[in-house]
Amino acid sequence: MVDLWLKDAKIVPENMIVSLGIEDGKIAALKKIAPKREECINLRESVILPGLIDAHVHFRDPGLTYKEDFRTGTMAAAAGGFTTVIDMPNTRPPTDTAKAFKEKLKIADHKSLVDYGLHAGVGKLKDIKNLFKLKPASFKLYMDLLDDDTLEGIFREIKNLQNDGGQEPLISLHCEDKETVESSTLKMRSKGRDKPELYARARPVLAETTAVSKALKLAGKYGLKIHICHVSTEESLGLIDEAKKSGLKVTSEITPHHLLLNSSYLRKCGNFAKTNPPLRDQKDKVEIGSLNDVDIIGTDHAPHTIPEKEQNVWNALPGIPNLDATLPLLLTQIKQRNLTFTDLKRLLCENPAIIFNIKNKGFIKRGMDADFVVVDMRKEGIIEPDKFKSKAKYSPFKGFKVKGMPVMTMVRGNVVMEDDHLSKNQGNFIYS
Ligand code: NCD
Ligand code: ZN
Ligand code: ZN
Ligand code: ZN
Repeated sequence: MVDLWLKDAKIVPENMIVSLGIEDGKIAALKKIAPKREECINLRESVILPGLIDAHVHFRDPGLTYKEDFRTGTMAAAAGGFTTVIDMPNTRPPTDTAKAFKEKLKIADHKSLVDYGLHAGVGKLKDIKNLFKLKPASFKLYMDLLDDDTLEGIFREIKNLQNDGGQEPLISLHCEDKETVESSTLKMRSKGRDKPELYARARPVLAETTAVSKALKLAGKYGLKIHICHVSTEESLGLIDEAKKSGLKVTSEITPHHLLLNSSYLRKCGNFAKTNPPLRDQKDKVEIGSLNDVDIIGTDHAPHTIPEKEQNVWNALPGIPNLDATLPLLLTQIKQRNLTFTDLKRLLCENPAIIFNIKNKGFIKRGMDADFVVVDMRKEGIIEPDKFKSKAKYSPFKGFKVKGMPVMTMVRGNVVMEDDHLSKNQGNFIYS
């Protein structure tokens, strides 16, 4: 006897119909046919995927909860088929001390609907060692805010952790070069114009490629594992690919907006399309055909309020809320044959679990956590930010037609979303 059967689920890409037995929150059995007279949910041959893992979210909790909090953020996650999220450290206070890290864990423990991990920030070097003991998913560095010497000092300090033995540390990087961003922004601002499309020029491709090169060089010099967040250009992908071939331990991430939109959306949507790094011109952006070279998709869910967006381009805050919309947008790409289920599982389930060392997640296999998203590939809809569960009800994807939508999300055997209804689940820390 198991606790629950998910009957007649379609596994992809095999297109096999199976029944999944769930016992104590784990996948306990995979069978052709579910035994009769046991508790079951009939999925009627809908596609089932491992629950999606988003390694890049900004839930603004604590300190900026007027934009989002751990409850609304994870509501958006559950609604969008994500069963695990990893939160970024740029909250108030930043998650760059053991005390702040423990406080955020407590907040997440009270409010999270889905399972969660936390990235650590880096403030004072002396805090790194104690933070590491609390099991951050990575140390997150914002190269647009760090000068070269400080950056290298941090790599050196993190190298010491590696020398201590135990779990290998990982560094995640926002790759835009501080100096290049500052000088280009100054140049554009001094022209006295205020058009959102200028933003792409204020933070040019060169800012990203310069930062990526610096990060790769440091990773090589110190022998550390790095993860490059939100890669926005083909050129950066090329640099990362070369580094991989030379033996560096580096992984890459792309967002749905850098994948599906280009800089023309700054004209169409104004600051609702403003984000860092900026959307790129068609000739520079990462193409969907290049996804083979990308390791994961992270949403960079970065909610702000509408008044924070409705300012001149230089003052409007950068960031796009993506958790609600990402899966429908990607399922639509599958429908249009630009993407496969194999890609989707690799980019949003398997690789995030491997890169961020999340045991028991990312795969539908016996012994794994019973984290799933069930999708209806026939269900059509329109991206309507008004209906987002996120507090941030705007999106450059507003009005996009989608085909293929999540209809049920399950975390460790508990239904957290079903047909737009959200439950009161209690998420767990993924490294406990
Ligand atoms: C992020 C935010 O708002 O926290 N903004 C963004 O434009 N992506 C920060 C970040 O990921 O760089
Ligand atoms: Zn049991
Ligand atoms: Zn960033
Ligand atoms: Zn981010």
